[in-house]
Amino acid sequence: MIPGMPGDSQVYLNGEFTRADEAKVSVFDRGFILGDGVYDVVPVYHGKPFRMAEHLDRLERSLKALSIPSPKSREEWIALIHELVRRSPTPTCMVYLQVTRGAYKRDHAFPTGKITPTVFGIAAEFRRPSAAQRDQGLRMISVPDERWLHCEIKSISLLGNVLARQQAVEAGVDEAIQFRDGYLTEGAASNIWVVSGGTLLAPPKNNLILEGIRYGLMTELAQETGVPFEMRRISQAEVAAADEILVTSAGKEVLPVTELDGKPVGTGQPGPVYRKLQAAYDARVAAL
Ligand SMILES: Cc1ncc(COP(=O)(O)O)c(C=O)c1O
Repeated sequence: MIPGMPGDSQVYLNGEFTRADEAKVSVFDRGFILGDGVYDVVPVYHGKPFRMAEHLDRLERSLKALSIPSPKSREEWIALIHELVRRSPTPTCMVYLQVTRGAYKRDHAFPTGKITPTVFGIAAEFRRPSAAQRDQGLRMISVPDERWLHCEIKSISLLGNVLARQQAVEAGVDEAIQFRDGYLTEGAASNIWVVSGGTLLAPPKNNLILEGIRYGLMTELAQETGVPFEMRRISQAEVAAADEILVTSAGKEVLPVTELDGKPVGTGQPGPVYRKLQAAYDARVAAL
């Protein structure tokens, strides 16, 4: 039994569907030994994947960054996602896909010759943000960003993110906002947005953040709803003085941050820019 996982849920592993509690990966898998792999998470609403092409583009970018040849064509990835959704007990779910470099004798250097990556997939239940989360917002703390310098790769090596999230849990809040050299990067598992004087701000898309699939979506929604958008470095002082702070991820969609480091953000209530963007996000989901 895997704590918290129904054993009879179905997973995909290397070409087969099996019960979650029966799926086995080699102890020599480089994902297990070295964290040598990538993943992506696609939200699915009522059986329909949301922004699937963008998620698969990012998965392929992450694989390329690690020189792992994609083990599936685009059509095969799409077919796998649909099959995981078909087998999911809940039609609104999160499809998790993971690829590692495969199982080899332990050595930091890549194995030579043709490799056989390990491919894993699962559809897990997705509970959309609650009305309470939308109305009350989330509480967050600021932490130093102690991760490596390739945060743009959606790597399964997540220790920096794990430690940041754990600090939030131990502080009794929802998420940690990371700062590197005094500038905003992102959450432990989310992107962070700041509203200042009516303008939506986001940190530059570079190696210091993971470009969430909601990054592109939010810029589209901002344009659609007439919210000015600016991508630039945002200092910790600007974040502390923000009128609004928003957080995005596949699971959180877009949510307001109403408390940072024990102090209210702006009025301490979800703000007007959040309301506009959240309504536009919901409309995109409803239009699927
Ligand atoms: C570090 C990090 N940044 C940003 C995001 C948001 O990405 P997306 O919008 O694709 O869920 C995630 C998602 O889990 C993440 O782990």
